[in-house]
Amino acid sequence: MTAQDTLIGYLSEVQGQGMTAHLDAALDTYTPTVSCDGETVLVGQLGSHVAVRQADIQVLAMVTRIIDSDAGNGDETNSGRQLNLLPLGELDEQGRFHRGVRRFPSLGAEVHAVGTAQVRVIFEKFRDQGFSLGHLPTHPDLDVCLDPTRMFGRHFAVLGQSGSGKSWALASLLQRTVEVMPKAHIILLDLHGEYCWRDDRGQIQSAFDSEVMRYVDARQLEIPYWLMTYAELIDLLIERDDPNASTQIALLRETIRDLKKKANPELFAQGMSIDSPVYFSMVEMYQYFKAANSQKTDFGKTKGPLYGQFDEFLVKLQSRFNDSRYDFLLKPKRRTSSASLSGLLRDFVGLGEPKRQITVIDLSAIPFDVRPTISAQIGRLAFEFNYWNPHYQEFPLLLVCEEAHTYIPRAAGTRFEGTRQSMERIAKEGRKYGVSLGVISQRPHELSETVLSQ
Ligand SMILES: Nc1ncnc2c1ncn2[C@@H]1O[C@H](COP(=O)(O)OP(=O)(O)OP(=O)(O)O)[C@@H](O)[C@H]1O
Ligand SMILES: [Mg+2]
Repeated sequence: MTAQDTLIGYLSEVQGQGMTAHLDAALDTYTPTVSCDGETVLVGQLGSHVAVRQADIQVLAMVTRIIDSDAGNGDETNSGRQLNLLPLGELDEQGRFHRGVRRFPSLGAEVHAVGTAQVRVIFEKFRDQGFSLGHLPTHPDLDVCLDPTRMFGRHFAVLGQSGSGKSWALASLLQRTVEVMPKAHIILLDLHGEYCWRDDRGQIQSAFDSEVMRYVDARQLEIPYWLMTYAELIDLLIERDDPNASTQIALLRETIRDLKKKANPELFAQGMSIDSPVYFSMVEMYQYFKAANSQKTDFGKTKGPLYGQFDEFLVKLQSRFNDSRYDFLLKPKRRTSSASLSGLLRDFVGLGEPKRQITVIDLSAIPFDVRPTISAQIGRLAFEFNYWNPHYQEFPLLLVCEEAHTYIPRAAGTRFEGTRQSMERIAKEGRKYGVSLGVISQRPHELSETVLSQ
């Protein structure tokens, strides 16, 4: 086979974002094919690869578009068919692939079809690490290998329609991750109990090996309200469209500060803030609001300034107090002091007993309306664990958020403002502390832009 056998056209346009090639007139057929090392390659297939060669430059590119631009312009050698190409990287003299293009080819460079052997070199560098994700649709016998450490240095997203296989893909990805990265820790927020479930006999069944996975029921974990930031408490307790919302928010601020100070006088002296994760009493908070709501002066003749402003707030809080599904949050039994925080953090990140690499936190049994707040709180605490962990470099954490659009919304000022801020902070700063974020969503246009763009 000569080099000319694989020639399919020439470059006609080069830009920073991509390149365009004109196909050779000989390929102006209904089934344009070329033979590469005995393999028949369909020219111009979307997602297929080509090599652009000029002097000692060799760039591998992917086909992103094919059009019949100006068919019949009279040019004998030019078919009028155009390929848009996305350059992926360069091949050096030894035939090794390097991501990114430093030297772009110029107009007239030859464009060649490539076979499986040449596409294989793109993933060759990481093949030894054994982190194989699947197969290329254009080359089914070629496994795609990535650099596993990148998963932990950066954030990633798995996006696709409902039912397209995101959860399955994620399970497979995580199974491989723990094999190749024994030090990595993964926290998976499982909103629907898809990754772990109890069978008819009450045994835990899981998508992961029991050697690497620990199942945690969010209710048994106890995620007490007092760990929430002020913004998260607003999300939890206040309806933002209530006409009295701003008054409620103001009183909430004052009350929480007073109660935290009362419960932790020594910490307060050291400069504690309203967001500090220290204990305060929810029952007392309820009483504060109740007193303000029914306050009267002049021996009961004049209504106080806040009289009746918290009716709905109090009813809502009372009904949650009476609903046992909220007990893990509002009536913690074990986590009733600021000192119980470190145990909770260890449980989150997989250092609690038994120690495991993957902690699946099952949120399916907790009430729907608090799931977003709880998810964000878990995320924030995991981030804070590594933020204060002097050995964070040896302890990479990956926080995986299923159905992320429900609690990391794009729109500002929604009910989940506080949770959104917490998650965006991980997206922006997490990498510095070894915390990366994996978001899974079927509605990327509803997902926070900050999180996606990171
Ligand atoms: N690689 C695969 N091969 C064969 N079947 C698959 C594969 N991946 C997923 N499926 C099937 O597709 C179905 C939906 O997959 P999955 O639950 O992962 O989708 P999803 O994208 O997470 O959906 P949702 O958005 O509803 O959460 C599964 O029940 C499974 O049977
Ligand atoms: Mg799913």
